[in-house]
Amino acid sequence: MQLRIAVPDDAEAISAIYAPIVSDTTISFELEPPTADAMRERLIETLQRFPWLVSLDEAGEVSGYAYASAHRARAAYQWSADTTVYVRADSRGQRVGRGLYAALFEELTGLGYAQAFAGIALPNLASVALHEAVGFTAVGVYRNVGFKLGAWRDVGWWQKTLRSYSTEPAAPIAFAAASGR
Ligand SMILES: CC(C)(COP(=O)(O)OP(=O)(O)OC[C@H]1O[C@@H](n2cnc3c(N)ncnc32)[C@H](O)[C@@H]1OP(=O)(O)O)[C@@H](O)C(=O)NCCC(=O)NCCS
Repeated sequence: MQLRIAVPDDAEAISAIYAPIVSDTTISFELEPPTADAMRERLIETLQRFPWLVSLDEAGEVSGYAYASAHRARAAYQWSADTTVYVRADSRGQRVGRGLYAALFEELTGLGYAQAFAGIALPNLASVALHEAVGFTAVGVYRNVGFKLGAWRDVGWWQKTLRSYSTEPAAPIAFAAASGR
């Protein structure tokens, strides 16, 4: 499996992976799939501050992606990031998610992040299994926090420590600055 940093031109492939998740499942709490153009804007904005990685299949096509985002906006949260991973349906169960996450954690740790959080709409056995396999532990459940596909939905939160600081840390570095973009 090959991994690389996402580029704006990956937006179409990423949208194609994400659209059925939005339309057909409660995994994402979005209600309308974003267009490829909207996804392109998200990619450009995210890459200013956070890593966004894609995996490539043997044909060189995007088979999955993982990225980080701010956990909360207030300044004292700045060392905490949310992480997300999606793998194309025909590439699941081949350790693509595990590989994407390992690389994402390495990037986040290098930038100075201390904690990663993942919100998982429940139930999602595969996602819970992946997150626990890569070292996340369960924090708790927000009950009935969203309404989608005719019912109220719970979101479980998982947490992984990326690095521990003994003293007040420096602010995390922006991904664009760290990667010379
Ligand atoms: C969740 C998801 C990203 C997992 O990616 P994946 O590439 O299939 O997972 P991997 O093959 O890397 O599996 C990693 C571990 O997770 C576990 N796992 C993955 N899928 C599983 C499943 N369906 N059932 C049980 N365990 C599973 C395995 O224990 C595996 O451990 P191993 O590497 O020791 O075998 C993928 O199923 C997916 O894209 N699902 C739809 C989108 C989604 O739910 N995203 C997460 C949003 S919170």
